[in-house]
Amino acid sequence: MAHGASAVANTVHLEFPSLPENVGFARAAVALFASRLDFTLDELEEIKVAVSEAVSNVVVHAYPEGPGPVRVEATVTPQGELVVRVADQGRGIEDVARACEASFTTRPGEHLGLGLTFINEYADRLEVNSAPGQGTVVTFTKRPQMAAVHRE
Ligand SMILES: Nc1ncnc2c1ncn2[C@@H]1O[C@H](COP(=O)(O)OP(=O)(O)OP(=O)(O)O)[C@@H](O)[C@H]1O
Ligand SMILES: [Mg+2]
Repeated sequence: MAHGASAVANTVHLEFPSLPENVGFARAAVALFASRLDFTLDELEEIKVAVSEAVSNVVVHAYPEGPGPVRVEATVTPQGELVVRVADQGRGIEDVARACEASFTTRPGEHLGLGLTFINEYADRLEVNSAPGQGTVVTFTKRPQMAAVHRE
């Protein structure tokens, strides 16, 4: 069994309003939770960036009327993978495939449209579930690469 993994999934939840000052909290909390797995410092850095980008997207895009709820769920699976889910109940995304394209943004001039691209780059798997008016759920999975080497 991989270091830090156990027979059952271990899940923690964070819930907070979509205020910019909470991005750093989510980023640090998930990185601390993830550090029980055999991630390298570079991989932990990538996890931090991915969490920041997903939570920042809720802060910037989800709730045009003012802050709304963000729920972050982090799981260490029995297989020793990290699964992070960032969910909001905001405006949702009209065209998810387009939103995932590099440089696509609905806030040109202010944003570069690279957040989802970074998450996709740094995670082993990225899933974006969203529909207009239905909120958005971004889920990404990451495995420590060292663990993969050890298994061989
Ligand atoms: N949680 C969300 N709720 C609503 N729309 C979202 C959400 N996350 C992403 N989007 C939409 O997807 C687009 C692409 O997101 P992405 O993070 O790649 O770029 P960005 O946030 O516009 O720019 P950057 O991340 O570089 O600052 C956004 O412009 C926005 O329209
Ligand atoms: Mg973004």
